[in-house]
Amino acid sequence: MDIRIAVLGGDGIGPEVTAESVKVLDAIGRRFGHNFAFVTGVCGGRAIDESGSALPEETLDIVKGSDAVLFGAVGGPKWDDPQAETRPEDGILALRKELDLFANLRPVKVYPELIDSSPLRPDRLVGVDMVIVRELTSGLYFGKPKKRWANSRGRVAVDTLTYREREIERVARVGFEIARGRRQRLHSLDKMNVMETGRLWREVVTEIGAEYPDVELIHMLADNAAMQLVTRPSEFDVMVTENTFGDILSDEAAVIGGSMGMLPSASLSSIPKTNHNRRPRRAGKRALYEPIHGSAPDIAGQGIANPVASILSTAMMLRYSFALEDEADLIENSVEAVLADGVKTPDLAMQPNEAVGTTDMGDAITGRIIG
Ligand code: IPM
Ligand code: MG
Repeated sequence: MDIRIAVLGGDGIGPEVTAESVKVLDAIGRRFGHNFAFVTGVCGGRAIDESGSALPEETLDIVKGSDAVLFGAVGGPKWDDPQAETRPEDGILALRKELDLFANLRPVKVYPELIDSSPLRPDRLVGVDMVIVRELTSGLYFGKPKKRWANSRGRVAVDTLTYREREIERVARVGFEIARGRRQRLHSLDKMNVMETGRLWREVVTEIGAEYPDVELIHMLADNAAMQLVTRPSEFDVMVTENTFGDILSDEAAVIGGSMGMLPSASLSSIPKTNHNRRPRRAGKRALYEPIHGSAPDIAGQGIANPVASILSTAMMLRYSFALEDEADLIENSVEAVLADGVKTPDLAMQPNEAVGTTDMGDAITGRIIG
């Protein structure tokens, strides 16, 4: 297969971790006879410095000419001025909107080797394996009006939370399809006790649920879900929720596994259908894959960032964009094998002096792939 990938490393540790993913994909290409071509583009803070825009036209052209996007992370203290005209984060937000990446899949898994690094008691971690499906192109992030002004009584700011029926419907379908391929349980999170959008959310998800009688649908208030996530995390299989709740809850869920450095994500522009083998089918051309951790400016440039989240994002890419199941499985199994061998970056290691760096971790995983 010939596959063209846009690589947008971004800021901070972004370029360091995506470099390891490129290495891993090259190894997969050699082993399975695929031809990966990588085209790099700038996005985020560095792009602002170079061109004034967090998502320059050339980058968007590269993205549109590719089969999938491998994204690193954006942002850093250098660009944190609240008065700034444009921010690094505008780059990723614009990409999500431009490519209509409405469904963000964030799987959370507990690796046995990392149980000691989790803030939760080990007995609560048994059986934890969930996917958060976060709506990604609407809600507070994009609603208009969105602005700041001042009047005689002081400063005012407004963000707008809007959801349209079709926006809820399509992301709900993603939740049901993913749940169908797993343990057939979907939690839908909202704040229907307070918000009109929450009431519409619940109504629409319930209607779509009628098409999926094989999936158990459980509605839950988002604040309650935040509590259940740390008290009974193994209860969750798939969760579907709106943009802001999904952002917050996925950070909470991420640390359950011990480190944010382990969690990948996929942002899709179409509904991945589950076939009779309960495996996802190819999901359209526009898709972006990124670790859920950020740019981690405090450790950038030191060669100690954990590349696993980015590497696991490439497994999601192979699975969802190209239906390359065996290749995706091999990446995931290689990560597990390397962890079982005790290879750990500083975020995972209990003894920091035993930790390996970013490239060593990438090399260990690549070594497993080549065999
Ligand atoms: C995420 C991040 C982004 C978000 C930021 C970088 C804009 O926190 O992907 O979760 O809020 O969506
Ligand atoms: Mg976030």
